[in-house]
Amino acid sequence: MDIKLTVKKRFFNDVYYPYLKREARFNVYYGSAGSGKSRFVAQKLILKMLKEPKHKLLVVRETLVSHKDSTFNELAQVLDQYKIRHLCSITKTPLSITLPNGAQIIFRGADDESKLLSISGITIVWVEEAAAVSRDVFEQLTLRLRGQGLKKQFYLTFNPVSEDSWLKSYFFDNPPEDTLVLKTTFKDNRFLDEDFLNGLEHMRLTNPRKYKVFGLGDWGTLGETIYDNWTERAFDRQEVAQRYKMLVGMDFGFTADPTTLVQSFVDEENKTIYVSSGFYSTGLLNQDIADRIEAMGLSKSEIIADSAEPKSIAELKRLGIRRVQGARKGPDSIRSGIAKIQEYHLIVHPDLDFFITELKNYSYKKDKVSGKYTNEPIDRYNHALDAFRYSMEPLMLPERRLKTMSKKGFGF
Ligand SMILES: Nc1ncnc2c1ncn2[C@@H]1O[C@H](COP(=O)(O)OP(=O)(O)O)[C@@H](O)[C@H]1O
Ligand SMILES: [Mg+2]
Repeated sequence: MDIKLTVKKRFFNDVYYPYLKREARFNVYYGSAGSGKSRFVAQKLILKMLKEPKHKLLVVRETLVSHKDSTFNELAQVLDQYKIRHLCSITKTPLSITLPNGAQIIFRGADDESKLLSISGITIVWVEEAAAVSRDVFEQLTLRLRGQGLKKQFYLTFNPVSEDSWLKSYFFDNPPEDTLVLKTTFKDNRFLDEDFLNGLEHMRLTNPRKYKVFGLGDWGTLGETIYDNWTERAFDRQEVAQRYKMLVGMDFGFTADPTTLVQSFVDEENKTIYVSSGFYSTGLLNQDIADRIEAMGLSKSEIIADSAEPKSIAELKRLGIRRVQGARKGPDSIRSGIAKIQEYHLIVHPDLDFFITELKNYSYKKDKVSGKYTNEPIDRYNHALDAFRYSMEPLMLPERRLKTMSKKGFGF
Protein backbone atom coordinates (compact mmCIF):
# COMPACT_ATOMS: atom_id res chain seq x y z
CA MET A 1 0.00 0.00 0.00
CA ASP A 2 1.20 3.45 -0.85
CA ILE A 3 0.69 5.90 1.99
CA LYS A 4 0.74 9.60 1.29
CA LEU A 5 2.50 11.22 4.20
CA THR A 6 2.81 14.92 4.70
CA VAL A 7 5.35 15.62 7.34
CA LYS A 8 5.92 19.30 7.90
CA LYS A 9 8.77 21.02 9.63
CA ARG A 10 6.34 22.86 11.86
CA PHE A 11 5.31 19.56 13.44
CA PHE A 12 8.63 19.57 15.27
CA ASN A 13 10.35 21.68 17.84
CA ASP A 14 13.42 23.25 16.25
CA VAL A 15 16.07 21.64 18.44
CA TYR A 16 14.90 18.20 17.52
CA TYR A 17 14.48 18.65 13.80
CA PRO A 18 18.11 17.82 12.89
CA TYR A 19 17.81 14.68 15.02
CA LEU A 20 15.28 13.18 12.67
CA LYS A 21 18.29 12.16 10.62
CA ARG A 22 20.67 11.30 13.45
CA GLU A 23 20.78 7.83 14.84
CA ALA A 24 23.03 5.75 17.02
CA ARG A 25 22.80 2.44 18.80
CA PHE A 26 22.02 4.30 22.04
CA ASN A 27 19.93 7.45 21.69
CA VAL A 28 19.66 9.42 24.90
CA TYR A 29 17.14 12.26 25.14
CA TYR A 30 17.17 13.85 28.56
CA GLY A 31 16.50 17.18 30.23
CA SER A 32 13.85 19.18 32.03
CA ALA A 33 10.18 18.32 32.33
CA GLY A 34 8.09 19.17 29.28
CA SER A 35 11.00 19.63 26.92
CA GLY A 36 9.28 17.64 24.19
CA LYS A 37 11.50 14.57 24.47
CA SER A 38 8.81 11.94 24.51
CA ARG A 39 6.82 13.53 21.76
CA PHE A 40 9.88 13.81 19.55
CA VAL A 41 10.94 10.21 20.07
CA ALA A 42 7.38 9.16 19.18
CA GLN A 43 7.50 11.32 16.04
CA LYS A 44 10.89 10.04 15.03
CA LEU A 45 10.24 6.37 15.61
CA ILE A 46 6.97 6.35 13.70
CA LEU A 47 8.61 8.02 10.73
CA LYS A 48 11.46 5.59 10.86
CA MET A 49 9.15 2.60 10.99
CA LEU A 50 7.05 3.90 8.13
CA LYS A 51 10.20 3.97 6.05
CA GLU A 52 11.57 0.67 7.32
CA PRO A 53 8.63 -1.70 7.75
CA LYS A 54 10.62 -4.58 9.19
CA HIS A 55 10.95 -2.87 12.55
CA LYS A 56 9.24 -3.94 15.72
CA LEU A 57 9.29 -1.41 18.55
CA LEU A 58 9.12 -2.33 22.22
CA VAL A 59 8.15 0.56 24.51
CA VAL A 60 9.12 0.07 28.15
CA ARG A 61 8.09 2.01 31.24
CA GLU A 62 8.18 1.28 34.94
CA THR A 63 4.76 -0.38 34.78
CA LEU A 64 2.46 -1.48 31.99
CA VAL A 65 -0.49 0.63 33.18
CA SER A 66 1.58 3.80 32.99
CA HIS A 67 1.84 3.55 29.18
CA LYS A 68 -1.71 4.42 28.36
CA ASP A 69 -1.63 8.07 29.37
CA SER A 70 1.92 8.63 28.25
CA THR A 71 3.78 6.76 25.54
CA PHE A 72 0.70 5.27 23.92
CA ASN A 73 -0.99 8.63 23.97
CA GLU A 74 2.04 10.43 22.50
CA LEU A 75 2.31 7.85 19.72
CA ALA A 76 -1.40 8.09 18.96
CA GLN A 77 -1.19 11.88 18.76
CA VAL A 78 1.63 11.57 16.28
CA LEU A 79 -0.48 9.21 14.16
CA ASP A 80 -3.13 11.94 14.16
CA GLN A 81 -0.61 14.57 13.23
CA TYR A 82 0.64 12.44 10.33
CA LYS A 83 -3.01 11.72 9.45
CA ILE A 84 -2.56 7.96 9.39
CA ARG A 85 -4.35 6.85 12.54
CA HIS A 86 -7.32 5.49 10.60
CA LEU A 87 -4.95 3.31 8.60
CA CYS A 88 -3.42 1.74 11.71
CA SER A 89 -4.64 -1.21 13.67
CA ILE A 90 -4.76 -0.36 17.37
CA THR A 91 -5.63 -2.82 20.15
CA LYS A 92 -6.18 -1.98 23.80
CA THR A 93 -5.61 -5.40 25.36
CA PRO A 94 -2.85 -6.06 24.87
CA LEU A 95 -1.89 -2.51 24.07
CA SER A 96 -0.45 -2.46 20.55
CA ILE A 97 -0.22 -0.41 17.38
CA THR A 98 0.34 -1.80 13.92
CA LEU A 99 1.29 0.78 11.32
CA PRO A 100 -0.19 0.66 7.79
CA ASN A 101 2.93 -1.07 6.48
CA GLY A 102 2.81 -3.80 9.12
CA ALA A 103 5.48 -2.41 11.45
CA GLN A 104 4.51 -3.15 15.05
CA ILE A 105 4.64 -1.34 18.38
CA ILE A 106 4.19 -3.20 21.65
CA PHE A 107 4.28 -2.07 25.30
CA ARG A 108 5.65 -3.63 28.46
CA GLY A 109 6.22 -2.79 32.13
CA ALA A 110 9.74 -3.12 33.54
CA ASP A 111 8.18 -4.55 36.72
CA ASP A 112 7.09 -7.74 34.97
CA GLU A 113 10.37 -9.25 33.90
CA SER A 114 9.04 -12.49 32.51
CA LYS A 115 6.64 -10.68 30.17
CA LEU A 116 9.23 -8.07 29.41
CA LEU A 117 11.82 -10.55 28.25
CA SER A 118 9.51 -13.00 26.49
CA ILE A 119 9.58 -10.91 23.38
CA SER A 120 10.80 -11.76 19.94
CA GLY A 121 11.71 -9.93 16.81
CA ILE A 122 12.24 -6.61 18.57
CA THR A 123 14.53 -4.22 16.70
CA ILE A 124 14.03 -0.97 18.62
CA VAL A 125 13.50 -0.35 22.32
CA TRP A 126 12.26 2.92 23.77
CA VAL A 127 12.63 3.20 27.52
CA GLU A 128 10.45 6.05 28.74
CA GLU A 129 11.18 7.64 32.15
CA ALA A 130 14.29 5.52 32.19
CA ALA A 131 15.36 6.79 35.63
CA ALA A 132 12.61 4.60 37.09
CA VAL A 133 13.85 1.50 35.25
CA SER A 134 16.80 -0.37 36.67
CA ARG A 135 20.14 -0.87 35.01
CA ASP A 136 19.66 -4.58 35.38
CA VAL A 137 16.46 -4.61 33.32
CA PHE A 138 18.03 -2.39 30.70
CA GLU A 139 21.08 -4.59 30.37
CA GLN A 140 18.97 -7.69 30.05
CA LEU A 141 17.14 -6.03 27.18
CA THR A 142 20.38 -5.15 25.44
CA LEU A 143 21.49 -8.77 25.75
CA ARG A 144 18.17 -10.05 24.41
CA LEU A 145 18.48 -7.87 21.36
CA ARG A 146 21.92 -8.93 20.28
CA GLY A 147 22.27 -10.83 17.08
CA GLN A 148 21.29 -10.94 13.48
CA GLY A 149 18.92 -8.82 11.49
CA LEU A 150 18.48 -5.10 11.48
CA LYS A 151 20.78 -2.90 13.47
CA LYS A 152 19.24 -2.67 16.91
CA GLN A 153 18.56 0.66 18.55
CA PHE A 154 17.75 1.92 22.02
CA TYR A 155 16.06 5.18 22.84
CA LEU A 156 15.97 6.49 26.38
CA THR A 157 13.99 9.48 27.62
CA PHE A 158 14.25 10.78 31.17
CA ASN A 159 14.72 13.65 33.59
CA PRO A 160 18.18 13.60 35.18
CA VAL A 161 16.77 13.11 38.66
CA SER A 162 19.94 12.13 40.42
CA GLU A 163 23.61 12.03 39.59
CA ASP A 164 23.48 8.80 41.57
CA SER A 165 21.40 7.18 38.89
CA TRP A 166 22.84 4.37 36.73
CA LEU A 167 22.03 6.49 33.67
CA LYS A 168 24.72 8.98 34.64
CA SER A 169 27.49 6.44 34.92
CA TYR A 170 26.29 4.37 31.97
CA PHE A 171 25.81 7.08 29.33
CA PHE A 172 27.73 10.09 30.62
CA ASP A 173 30.74 9.11 32.69
CA ASN A 174 31.78 6.26 30.47
CA PRO A 175 29.45 6.07 27.47
CA PRO A 176 29.34 2.96 25.31
CA GLU A 177 30.41 3.28 21.69
CA ASP A 178 27.83 4.73 19.33
CA THR A 179 25.91 6.82 21.85
CA LEU A 180 24.07 10.00 20.93
CA VAL A 181 22.97 12.41 23.64
CA LEU A 182 20.67 15.41 23.41
CA LYS A 183 19.81 17.60 26.38
CA THR A 184 16.74 19.83 26.12
CA THR A 185 14.73 22.03 28.46
CA PHE A 186 11.16 23.29 28.52
CA LYS A 187 12.41 26.39 26.74
CA ASP A 188 12.95 24.23 23.67
CA ASN A 189 9.28 23.29 23.55
CA ARG A 190 7.06 25.93 21.99
CA PHE A 191 3.92 23.86 22.51
CA LEU A 192 3.69 24.18 26.31
CA ASP A 193 0.70 25.86 27.86
CA GLU A 194 0.57 28.60 30.46
CA ASP A 195 -0.42 26.26 33.30
CA PHE A 196 2.63 24.13 32.83
CA LEU A 197 4.93 27.15 32.79
CA ASN A 198 3.27 28.57 35.91
CA GLY A 199 3.79 25.25 37.65
CA LEU A 200 7.49 25.34 36.84
CA GLU A 201 7.77 28.92 38.01
CA HIS A 202 6.16 27.93 41.29
CA MET A 203 8.71 25.14 41.61
CA ARG A 204 11.55 27.54 40.90
CA LEU A 205 10.44 29.74 43.79
CA THR A 206 9.59 27.03 46.28
CA ASN A 207 11.88 24.09 45.57
CA PRO A 208 15.17 25.12 43.96
CA ARG A 209 16.71 21.69 44.10
CA LYS A 210 13.83 20.12 42.28
CA TYR A 211 13.82 22.98 39.77
CA LYS A 212 17.43 22.27 38.93
CA VAL A 213 16.32 18.93 37.50
CA PHE A 214 12.81 19.57 36.21
CA GLY A 215 13.34 23.18 35.11
CA LEU A 216 16.96 23.38 34.07
CA GLY A 217 17.45 19.75 33.10
CA ASP A 218 20.66 19.46 35.14
CA TRP A 219 21.61 16.38 37.10
CA GLY A 220 20.08 16.37 40.54
CA THR A 221 22.63 16.58 43.30
CA LEU A 222 22.32 15.63 46.89
CA GLY A 223 22.70 18.73 48.94
CA GLU A 224 23.48 18.86 52.57
CA THR A 225 19.96 19.21 53.93
CA ILE A 226 17.32 16.78 52.78
CA TYR A 227 14.38 19.15 52.76
CA ASP A 228 14.56 22.59 51.15
CA ASN A 229 10.92 22.55 50.17
CA TRP A 230 9.43 24.39 53.14
CA THR A 231 8.46 27.79 54.50
CA GLU A 232 7.74 28.82 58.07
CA ARG A 233 4.46 30.70 58.07
CA ALA A 234 1.44 31.09 60.32
CA PHE A 235 -1.90 29.98 58.89
CA ASP A 236 -5.45 29.54 60.09
CA ARG A 237 -5.47 25.99 61.42
CA GLN A 238 -9.23 25.68 61.44
CA GLU A 239 -9.62 26.82 57.89
CA VAL A 240 -6.97 24.42 56.69
CA ALA A 241 -8.54 21.59 58.70
CA GLN A 242 -11.89 22.20 57.04
CA ARG A 243 -10.54 22.22 53.53
CA TYR A 244 -7.95 19.51 53.34
CA LYS A 245 -7.27 15.88 54.14
CA MET A 246 -5.66 15.33 57.52
CA LEU A 247 -2.52 13.25 58.04
CA VAL A 248 -1.26 12.16 61.46
CA GLY A 249 1.95 10.27 62.17
CA MET A 250 3.80 9.28 65.31
CA ASP A 251 7.30 8.13 66.25
CA PHE A 252 8.04 6.48 69.60
CA GLY A 253 10.87 7.24 71.97
CA PHE A 254 11.39 7.36 75.70
CA THR A 255 14.69 8.17 77.35
CA ALA A 256 17.06 9.64 74.79
CA ASP A 257 14.64 10.03 71.91
CA PRO A 258 11.35 11.86 72.11
CA THR A 259 7.92 10.52 71.34
CA THR A 260 6.53 12.81 68.72
CA LEU A 261 3.31 13.27 66.82
CA VAL A 262 2.80 15.44 63.75
CA GLN A 263 -0.54 16.53 62.33
CA SER A 264 -0.77 18.08 58.90
CA PHE A 265 -3.22 18.80 56.09
CA VAL A 266 -2.59 18.16 52.45
CA ASP A 267 -3.77 20.38 49.60
CA GLU A 268 -3.25 17.91 46.79
CA GLU A 269 -4.23 20.31 44.03
CA ASN A 270 -1.50 22.78 44.90
CA LYS A 271 0.91 20.14 46.12
CA THR A 272 1.14 21.87 49.49
CA ILE A 273 1.10 20.40 52.97
CA TYR A 274 0.26 22.50 56.01
CA VAL A 275 2.16 21.16 59.00
CA SER A 276 -0.12 22.23 61.74
CA SER A 277 0.30 20.74 65.22
CA GLY A 278 1.98 18.08 67.26
CA PHE A 279 4.05 17.25 70.31
CA TYR A 280 7.63 16.27 70.94
CA SER A 281 8.69 15.05 74.34
CA THR A 282 10.81 12.47 76.13
CA GLY A 283 9.65 10.35 79.07
CA LEU A 284 6.07 9.89 77.91
CA LEU A 285 4.36 6.70 79.03
CA ASN A 286 1.67 5.25 76.82
CA GLN A 287 -1.02 6.69 79.06
CA ASP A 288 0.56 10.15 78.66
CA ILE A 289 0.65 9.71 74.92
CA ALA A 290 -3.00 8.66 74.84
CA ASP A 291 -3.93 11.69 76.96
CA ARG A 292 -2.15 14.05 74.62
CA ILE A 293 -3.78 12.53 71.57
CA GLU A 294 -7.14 12.81 73.25
CA ALA A 295 -6.47 16.46 74.15
CA MET A 296 -5.73 17.17 70.50
CA GLY A 297 -9.07 15.63 69.55
CA LEU A 298 -7.40 12.90 67.57
CA SER A 299 -8.42 9.78 69.48
CA LYS A 300 -10.76 8.70 66.67
CA SER A 301 -8.39 9.61 63.84
CA GLU A 302 -6.18 7.42 61.73
CA ILE A 303 -2.67 7.66 63.13
CA ILE A 304 0.27 5.95 61.43
CA ALA A 305 2.95 5.11 63.96
CA ASP A 306 6.42 3.60 64.03
CA SER A 307 5.85 -0.12 63.52
CA ALA A 308 8.96 -1.01 65.53
CA GLU A 309 6.82 -0.76 68.70
CA PRO A 310 3.87 -3.11 68.28
CA LYS A 311 3.46 -3.30 72.05
CA SER A 312 2.95 0.45 72.40
CA ILE A 313 0.56 0.41 69.47
CA ALA A 314 -1.49 -2.38 71.04
CA GLU A 315 -1.57 -0.59 74.37
CA LEU A 316 -2.64 2.71 72.84
CA LYS A 317 -5.48 0.88 71.15
CA ARG A 318 -6.57 -0.44 74.52
CA LEU A 319 -6.37 3.08 75.88
CA GLY A 320 -8.94 4.15 73.30
CA ILE A 321 -6.76 5.31 70.42
CA ARG A 322 -8.48 2.80 68.16
CA ARG A 323 -7.19 3.75 64.77
CA VAL A 324 -3.49 3.85 65.48
CA GLN A 325 -1.63 1.51 63.16
CA GLY A 326 1.95 0.58 62.34
CA ALA A 327 3.62 2.01 59.28
CA ARG A 328 4.73 -0.44 56.66
CA LYS A 329 8.46 -0.68 56.41
CA GLY A 330 10.00 -1.75 53.15
CA PRO A 331 13.70 -1.83 52.35
CA ASP A 332 13.30 1.40 50.44
CA SER A 333 10.67 3.01 52.64
CA ILE A 334 12.81 5.85 53.98
CA ARG A 335 13.99 6.88 50.57
CA SER A 336 10.62 6.60 48.89
CA GLY A 337 8.99 8.46 51.79
CA ILE A 338 11.51 11.28 51.47
CA ALA A 339 10.96 11.42 47.71
CA LYS A 340 7.23 11.64 48.32
CA ILE A 341 7.60 14.50 50.80
CA GLN A 342 9.85 16.29 48.32
CA GLU A 343 6.98 16.37 45.83
CA TYR A 344 5.20 18.90 48.05
CA HIS A 345 5.83 22.31 49.44
CA LEU A 346 5.51 22.40 53.23
CA ILE A 347 4.09 25.34 55.10
CA VAL A 348 5.07 24.88 58.70
CA HIS A 349 3.32 26.68 61.53
CA PRO A 350 5.88 28.69 63.59
CA ASP A 351 4.62 27.00 66.77
CA LEU A 352 6.25 23.76 65.63
CA ASP A 353 9.79 24.76 66.56
CA PHE A 354 10.82 21.11 67.01
CA PHE A 355 9.76 20.34 63.45
CA ILE A 356 11.61 23.36 62.07
CA THR A 357 14.77 22.42 63.94
CA GLU A 358 14.73 19.01 62.34
CA LEU A 359 14.04 20.40 58.88
CA LYS A 360 17.06 22.64 59.22
CA ASN A 361 19.34 19.86 60.38
CA TYR A 362 18.23 16.61 58.79
CA SER A 363 20.85 15.96 56.13
CA TYR A 364 22.64 13.41 53.99
CA LYS A 365 25.73 11.63 55.20
CA LYS A 366 28.97 12.71 53.66
CA ASP A 367 31.28 10.16 52.13
CA LYS A 368 34.50 10.35 54.14
CA VAL A 369 36.73 9.64 51.16
CA SER A 370 35.19 11.61 48.33
CA GLY A 371 33.70 14.37 50.48
CA LYS A 372 30.50 14.11 48.45
CA TYR A 373 27.08 13.69 49.97
CA THR A 374 25.68 10.19 49.77
CA ASN A 375 21.99 9.46 49.38
CA GLU A 376 21.79 8.07 52.88
CA PRO A 377 20.21 10.29 55.52
CA ILE A 378 21.89 10.76 58.88
CA ASP A 379 20.20 9.06 61.82
CA ARG A 380 19.64 12.28 63.77
CA TYR A 381 17.09 15.07 63.61
CA ASN A 382 14.64 12.53 62.26
CA HIS A 383 12.05 12.01 64.99
CA ALA A 384 9.33 14.46 64.04
CA LEU A 385 10.33 14.01 60.41
CA ASP A 386 9.87 10.26 60.71
CA ALA A 387 6.47 10.77 62.31
CA PHE A 388 5.60 13.03 59.41
CA ARG A 389 6.96 10.54 56.90
CA TYR A 390 4.81 7.75 58.36
CA SER A 391 1.78 10.00 58.10
CA MET A 392 2.34 10.24 54.33
CA GLU A 393 1.57 6.56 53.89
CA PRO A 394 -2.06 7.01 52.81
CA LEU A 395 -0.81 9.17 49.95
CA MET A 396 1.64 6.54 48.85
CA LEU A 397 -0.23 3.27 48.91
CA PRO A 398 -1.13 2.83 45.25
CA GLU A 399 2.34 3.81 44.20
CA ARG A 400 3.93 1.57 46.76
CA ARG A 401 2.02 -1.42 45.60
CA LEU A 402 3.47 -0.91 42.16
CA LYS A 403 6.88 -0.27 43.56
CA THR A 404 7.09 -3.44 45.56
CA MET A 405 6.43 -5.26 42.32
CA SER A 406 9.14 -3.41 40.48
CA LYS A 407 12.69 -4.15 41.41
CA LYS A 408 13.76 -0.69 42.39
CA GLY A 409 12.24 2.62 43.32
CA PHE A 410 13.42 5.98 42.14
CA GLY A 411 16.97 6.66 43.13
CA PHE A 412 16.41 10.13 44.51
N1 LIG B 1 6.08 18.55 18.33
C1 LIG B 1 5.04 18.79 19.13
N2 LIG B 1 3.83 19.07 18.63
C2 LIG B 1 2.78 19.33 19.45
N3 LIG B 1 2.84 19.31 20.79
C3 LIG B 1 4.02 19.03 21.35
C4 LIG B 1 5.19 18.74 20.56
N4 LIG B 1 6.20 18.50 21.40
C5 LIG B 1 5.71 18.61 22.66
N5 LIG B 1 4.41 18.95 22.63
C6 LIG B 1 3.53 19.18 23.79
O1 LIG B 1 4.31 19.37 24.95
C7 LIG B 1 4.00 18.38 25.94
C8 LIG B 1 5.25 17.97 26.66
O2 LIG B 1 6.07 17.29 25.77
P1 LIG B 1 6.72 15.91 26.17
O3 LIG B 1 7.28 15.31 24.95
O4 LIG B 1 5.78 15.09 26.96
O5 LIG B 1 7.88 16.43 27.13
P2 LIG B 1 8.93 15.59 27.97
O6 LIG B 1 8.82 14.16 27.51
O7 LIG B 1 10.23 16.22 27.62
O8 LIG B 1 8.54 15.79 29.39
C9 LIG B 1 3.33 17.25 25.16
O9 LIG B 1 2.45 16.51 25.94
C10 LIG B 1 2.61 18.00 24.07
O10 LIG B 1 1.40 18.49 24.57
MG1 LIG C 1 8.39 12.56 28.70
